[in-house]
Amino acid sequence: MIIRPRRLRLTQAIRDMVSETRLSPSMFVYPVFIREGHNIIEDIPAMPGQKRYSPDTLPRILERAVRAKIGAVLFFGIPGHKDECGSSAYDDDGVIQQAIRTAKREFPELTVIGDVCMCEYTSHGHCGVLKGDYVDNDATLELLAKTAVSQARAGADIVAPSDMMDGHTGAIRTVLDENGLHNTLIFSYAVKYASAFYGPFREAAGSAPAFGDRKSYQMDPRNVREAVKEALLDVHEGADMIMVKPGLPYLDVLKTVKESVNVPVGSYCVSGEYSMIKAACANGWLDEKRVVLEAVTSIARAGADIIITYHAPEIAEWLA
Ligand code: PBG
Repeated sequence: MIIRPRRLRLTQAIRDMVSETRLSPSMFVYPVFIREGHNIIEDIPAMPGQKRYSPDTLPRILERAVRAKIGAVLFFGIPGHKDECGSSAYDDDGVIQQAIRTAKREFPELTVIGDVCMCEYTSHGHCGVLKGDYVDNDATLELLAKTAVSQARAGADIVAPSDMMDGHTGAIRTVLDENGLHNTLIFSYAVKYASAFYGPFREAAGSAPAFGDRKSYQMDPRNVREAVKEALLDVHEGADMIMVKPGLPYLDVLKTVKESVNVPVGSYCVSGEYSMIKAACANGWLDEKRVVLEAVTSIARAGADIIITYHAPEIAEWLA
């Protein structure tokens, strides 16, 4: 039970001692965009403070993450070449594979998560291969599994499929195991909504769909029981951790999912959430440190074990 002061004034130390929610640097994951090329560090206009790095400049930002002792980094690749079937995604010398190798060579103790999806790699921008104007679920599973294997071989500790195809976790687990990659964990985006909050990410990664939308494979924001169904399916297929995405607007979903599964649950505080805070702070309307810490505290209070956020390095430094 929480101590309720009446006439008694509590010190900050006592408030800390009895607080119900605690944050630590190790629960935060930092997403990083890596583009093909050399000597590149470029701004992402819709995400002030975030940049695209080429594999050779990547260690500069990773050094900060390592020093702040954050839990992991999550890599998104932006390839130089896109085609119908997203072949750069599973190229052993692709941009994300190069980035993973660089990160593990420079910082062997840093946990590296690879994003497994097709939308940054396909010319049409959808998260899978197309049959007519539909995404072909089962043909996509094969390519996702190949992508996961090539990332694991490059040294990824964890693969994170964000495509929302049915059966992705089982397909990836099977092929990882067939290739002897038993120690690679799967952090599945089990519960990912068709959200307008991904806008800035699509600019950052150049991954907006060329036609239509993602409503046939991402979830309807009106549904929460469906989230439990998706989460249980992924756990059954062998997910080691699962994700709910976006973050702050979906705390009810996060809490419900957390109560339904027995694996760690992550919450992804997405690009639009980041950019809203940044825009308000640039106008002097909000205090960035206080508002960011309150947002992630709320996400942790709702049940997140892991929080993926573009503010991860700052948060870890503030907590230290
Ligand atoms: C790729 C993917 C997206 C995000 C993560 N992985 C975009 C999308 O589904 O369109 C969004 C992350 C963010 O907004 O920060 N499928």
